[in-house]
Amino acid sequence: MSPDGIPGHTIPVRIGAGSAMSYDVRIGSGVLGDLERLAAAFASALLVADSGVPDDLIDEARAATERGGPSIGVHRFERPIERVKTTASVHAICASLSEMGADRSTSLVIAVGGGIVGDTAGFAAAAYQRGVPVVQCPTTLLAMVDASVGGKTGVNLETPDGRLRKNYIGAFHQPRAVLADTRAIRSLSDRHHRAGLAECVKHACLSAAFGDPDLMAWTEANAEALLARDDSTLAELIARNVRVKAAVVAEDERERANSGGRALLNLGHTFAHAIEPIPTLSPDEDSAHAPLHHGEAVALGVCAAAATATSLDPSTDRDQYAARLRALFERVGLPTQVRALPPAEELAVSMRADKKARAGRLRLVLPDPDQTARTIDDP
Ligand code: GLY
Repeated sequence: MSPDGIPGHTIPVRIGAGSAMSYDVRIGSGVLGDLERLAAAFASALLVADSGVPDDLIDEARAATERGGPSIGVHRFERPIERVKTTASVHAICASLSEMGADRSTSLVIAVGGGIVGDTAGFAAAAYQRGVPVVQCPTTLLAMVDASVGGKTGVNLETPDGRLRKNYIGAFHQPRAVLADTRAIRSLSDRHHRAGLAECVKHACLSAAFGDPDLMAWTEANAEALLARDDSTLAELIARNVRVKAAVVAEDERERANSGGRALLNLGHTFAHAIEPIPTLSPDEDSAHAPLHHGEAVALGVCAAAATATSLDPSTDRDQYAARLRALFERVGLPTQVRALPPAEELAVSMRADKKARAGRLRLVLPDPDQTARTIDDP
């Protein structure tokens, strides 16, 4: 229980030498109430609200912010899908800020939603008058354990041939705080909930080097409770994953390490980013389920990374580890193979165009059976 009486976990994120910047990630049922305290220092606040979030949570975020004292505007973010995660949406949020007379000294952006809304609103906050503070209130499991923490914000670039370059336009803009209210998870579809678990398995693959060597075994042992959305198990899952992510980001905020570092969080993502924009790919036999959700693409990407690690350095241990990862993804209802992939050469072109490539050379992240991972440059 925290001093303000709201139950849950509080994880500090400290970045830079001597923890030059730090903020808290609060996790639990009711933590949206902390918006009252956070908003009290501002004259105005713009709530950027995901249309998929239940109205009662948006109303609660709004009421808590109002109790803090600022004047408040609401910007509804309709249809948060990758195709609308663009500069046009950033422009619309900046226009809402301008209309309410927001300025960088006295105004706050509050993003309430999934990763698309958090990334877009976070980038609008980074760009508007060169930067207003943002509080991230993630409402999906995926955004709680990954997108909202660590300060990456941004949108996709649509190329003239209609392709989406994922997160090509963006900025590092650390939030003032992250409030992960676990009540939001109850409203997610099963598919969205499962997709969030992919990033958790990804973190478990790194966790031994970042303070939580038991995370993989714990996730396996609690898979059923996590699927059933048991409150305290979910809160523990989020807290442990945020701790791992915070430890990675603290060492290498801007992903500049020559090896390892924040790039480890890209495990599975280069492949995921290449297949995610393909509109016809489905996580199962049913084409009506296309396209893939981000987490589904990440599950496939982690499986591809484990298979790559095995083919570069074959061993029984690696084989068994790849099988262990596939088994966990399958247990939580995530895909481990996908039909109708484009030819390998076409995928390789997309992977090399990923913004994580350096001078056209890929940096792969490979998982090792001891729950660590490593980066290698284009073999
Ligand atoms: N989602 C990867 C990172 O935050 O670096």
